Amino acid sequence: MGFYPTCSSHFKRVKIKLILILIMAAYIFARNEHYIGWKSYFVRPISKDHVRALVILGEKLDLDFLSPPHPEREALVLVPPKHQLEFITRLKYFTIKYWTHAENVKAALDHDDELLRNWTNVILRGGGTVMPYNSYLNLDAIYAYMHDVSMRHQKTVTMVTAGHSFEGRPLRYLKISTTNFQRRLKKIIFIDSGIHAREWIAPPVVTWIIHKLTDDVTEPKILDDFDWILMPIVNPDGYEFSFSKKRLWRKTRSTDTNPKSYRCPGVDGNRNFDFAWGATGTSSNPCSEIYRGNKAFSEVEIRAVRDIFQTYFNRMSMYISMHSFGSMILYPWGHNSSVSKYSFNLHLASSAMIKAIKNASLPNFPAYVNGNSVQTIFYTAGGAADDYAHNLGIPYSYTFELPGLSGGMEGFELDPMYIEQVCTETWLGIVAGITKTIKLAEKDRS
Ligand SMILES: *[C@@H]1O[C@H](CO)[C@@H](O)[C@H](O)[C@H]1NC(C)=O
Ligand SMILES: *[C@@H]1O[C@H](CO)[C@@H](O)[C@H](O)[C@H]1NC(C)=O
Ligand SMILES: *[C@@H]1O[C@H](CO)[C@@H](O)[C@H](O)[C@H]1NC(C)=O
Ligand SMILES: [Zn+2]
Repeated sequence: MGFYPTCSSHFKRVKIKLILILIMAAYIFARNEHYIGWKSYFVRPISKDHVRALVILGEKLDLDFLSPPHPEREALVLVPPKHQLEFITRLKYFTIKYWTHAENVKAALDHDDELLRNWTNVILRGGGTVMPYNSYLNLDAIYAYMHDVSMRHQKTVTMVTAGHSFEGRPLRYLKISTTNFQRRLKKIIFIDSGIHAREWIAPPVVTWIIHKLTDDVTEPKILDDFDWILMPIVNPDGYEFSFSKKRLWRKTRSTDTNPKSYRCPGVDGNRNFDFAWGATGTSSNPCSEIYRGNKAFSEVEIRAVRDIFQTYFNRMSMYISMHSFGSMILYPWGHNSSVSKYSFNLHLASSAMIKAIKNASLPNFPAYVNGNSVQTIFYTAGGAADDYAHNLGIPYSYTFELPGLSGGMEGFELDPMYIEQVCTETWLGIVAGITKTIKLAEKDRS
């Protein structure tokens, strides 16, 4: 798709205007008719048994968890009208505490839309900036930003088009290096987001990292000592769909993996990797939110991520898959109940991240928890990116569940007033984590 200008001087002149148009285009919101009659509930499990009961109930009733159940905090779950009675009956039977989040999911989504539209007006009144962090941006705006950064920092930044999505959108990432990826001894850090379309807080965190490695370098050593691969939107079709058609869309948009996929398109990209593919926590039903596809790497978007791993895994020291929400840092294994041989270091580095995030966070944000996926959320899932990466030998492999729903907002989106806060605190956490891994490597050598 040739929408993106390639001539840099021309691009600079039209940049501000172009980005304003893109931002306006970003807010043609979908109607939320699909969610008429749906309700959302907070559930508060207090034991592993509670969590297990919730996971089993989730599979039976096709519940959609917006944040994973965890015994130390409430999870948010969407329940379609036909299962609300059974859902409540089962929660009472298991004595799991619950309370309503939205009596009317459609109205809550409409409210979110209005809130974001209001924020958009604020941005436009402010004259427009190259990459605002006070609202959520659509795919074109994010790709235009990536292109712009690569043009302005040609010595360090390369934009790669790694193929095209199922619907033909480019799959793009940036390589950032002060030595053009030529120093073989340098370790690589790979961070992606947007594999789950609706988790809108994740892509701005990754574009913020790009910002901190190009236009606002406050940690020059971290930039010099590592090569970086940053992919803000793994699943552009789903991301676009979540803007234009269905706000809470999670999966890809493929229709070629099952006859039923025409009615229920899409695959959960984070169940589609070729490691423990098809294990528990995945579904063979195309209509499920955790449908794994008809085979590992059925999705062209996930094959593009695979190719990045296959090209660079020898040099990768850290991989982070950004998701929301729950304020958690999870590490392998996630597909079975074993801890990784590397879990001590995984824990130390993620604890350093959490400490730095806490120091930079707000009092109304929940504290992060870290841990092995299974022991933290008592839930296993096959075919996930972090396990795939760890199995290739990438030592520091993490899934972040970024903060969400803070500040008493009634809707589903993290209030746009907190986007920049999440970006800055997460970056400080990553810097602290990397610094810790360097210290651990020195200790291993001595
Ligand atoms: C959006 O702005 C209008 C006009 O200022 C205001 O009445 C409305 O309450 C705002 N909506 C939200 C959800 O904040
Ligand atoms: C879990 O998976 C890891 C990685 O494949 C493996 O080393 C470990 O033995 C497995 N544990 C169990 C209990 O199957
Ligand atoms: C905590 O934040 C302050 C600045 O707000 C900074 O000076 C200090 O180094 C931070 N401490 C840690 C442990 O990150
Ligand atoms: Zn996710």
